[in-house]
Amino acid sequence: MKNKRSSQWFQTPGYHGMARRAWLRAEGYPADVFDGKPIIGICNSWSELNNCNAHLREVAAAVKRGVLAAGGIPLEFPTISLGEMFMLPTTMMFRNLMAMDVEESIRANPMDAVVLLCGCDKTTPAQLMGAASADVPAIVVPGGPMLAGTFQGQRLGSGTDGRKLFDLYRTGKLNDEEWSEVEGCIARTSGHCTVMGTASTMTSLAEALGMTLPGSASIPAPDSRRLANAEMSGRAAVELIEKSLTPTRVMTRDAFENAITVLMALGGSTNAVVHLIAIAGRVGIRLTLDDFDRIARKTPCIANVKPSGKYLMEDLFHAGGVPAVMNRIAGLLHGDCVTVNGKTIGDNVATTVSQDDNVIRQLSPEGGIAILYGNLAPDGAVIKVTAASAELLKHRGRAYVFETRDQMMAEIDRDDLPVDKNSILVMRNCGPKGAPGFPEWGHIPMPKKLLEQGVTDMVRISDARMSGTSFGTVILHVAPESAVGGPLAIVQTGDAIELDVAARKLELAISPQEMQDRLSRFVPPKRQYDRGYGRLFLDHVTQAHLGCDFDFLMPEVSK
Ligand code: FES
Repeated sequence: MKNKRSSQWFQTPGYHGMARRAWLRAEGYPADVFDGKPIIGICNSWSELNNCNAHLREVAAAVKRGVLAAGGIPLEFPTISLGEMFMLPTTMMFRNLMAMDVEESIRANPMDAVVLLCGCDKTTPAQLMGAASADVPAIVVPGGPMLAGTFQGQRLGSGTDGRKLFDLYRTGKLNDEEWSEVEGCIARTSGHCTVMGTASTMTSLAEALGMTLPGSASIPAPDSRRLANAEMSGRAAVELIEKSLTPTRVMTRDAFENAITVLMALGGSTNAVVHLIAIAGRVGIRLTLDDFDRIARKTPCIANVKPSGKYLMEDLFHAGGVPAVMNRIAGLLHGDCVTVNGKTIGDNVATTVSQDDNVIRQLSPEGGIAILYGNLAPDGAVIKVTAASAELLKHRGRAYVFETRDQMMAEIDRDDLPVDKNSILVMRNCGPKGAPGFPEWGHIPMPKKLLEQGVTDMVRISDARMSGTSFGTVILHVAPESAVGGPLAIVQTGDAIELDVAARKLELAISPQEMQDRLSRFVPPKRQYDRGYGRLFLDHVTQAHLGCDFDFLMPEVSK
């Protein structure tokens, strides 16, 4: 085996080499542990504060078996974990912090390759960003989706069905006892959310990028094959070293185009737009919103998985998983991209055909996400078309403006809220700097008075993100955000707004002069952090269309 990175730590002569070996032997290793064996870090985002990743120590044990079998030494280490359900104000505020933790933990420590254990939404992009910057050979092992719960005969898809059932509870169609029953069964096993939300999307895109073994993303967390996959990944991690398969060799521009294509084919989460731009930025590749729109227009959405479709991740697993999806759209992919098993992505998916054409079937001829521009979103906005209502994709309505999320929450159930089904709800101060942290507040709940009239969807616009499990005609990531003076800041209740998704347009129907006058009177909101990480975040986070990475972590900016 060629000269290894870890030899800088353990093969150095003199006191320091001895001391490092001695302190590793303190963990109970015999003297020959260092004899030419590669050291494989296992970067674990396990945490009891992150239920989706709470089984990852078991997954790590399986990875260790694989590393040992292949002749390596596994050393597991923790990083910050980002539990979507618990962290306030939002996990997105800490994605870059975790990416820095991952990057510096890899760079500072004696490892020749690293296995990245992830699952819950932000843990996958954070690990990919950090590993990309450290550029030590790396392989991703997702924790896998949880199994579906069943309520009154209906299989539940995490947030997607949870939100629908909550609307029934809000309007008195479910009682307290039934609501408690939902709570008991909607998240019944380990693993991340069961639908094509952000977690499933990002682990699937890690696979599409070539950063996992084929088929890794969709294996359910409690399935024995999850651990077998982890063991095989541990073996593969050792082989990565000989092949010098670093993240920058795997995550090329073509690999990112494959990931965008798979995102569209899966009807994946809008959050992936932000994350892919950020990950690509770490390897010096500038993805633009136009890349997403261009690829969306030629890629059919073929995964019949909630929230765009009907089934769940475990159904996609039984249908062949991401390889079967990629096999179906092979003609749209760059098949020659190398992956972490040393084979090309084309070879990896060549023989995996769909096992269930109900699950893998065309839902729409174009991809699930569209990019909108206009005087309301000069730097772009995002809509998940496949989760929207077809009749609202071309719509003109009057704005009703919420200054903040708190105001929206206080008013949304008012019986006298002055909106009807044609109104357009606008909410501002929810972007990267405004909220701050770019939270998933964009799925503004339907006003109770409209739900009671049987209206289940309306156009909603904000500079927030939306959970990948959400649905509706919801326009997100409006850039620039209102807090930095983007046009969303000057929309007034009663203004007409025009949405035309086919034409990719989002326009505020006021004159250019009126727009300029209002913008000239813009007063930025008060900064919410004067110290600590919050201040670092506010000073350096970039806008949504640039991936919300910190400017100093993006190589083309920091040069
Ligand atoms: Fe972790 Fe949904 S809460 S993936």
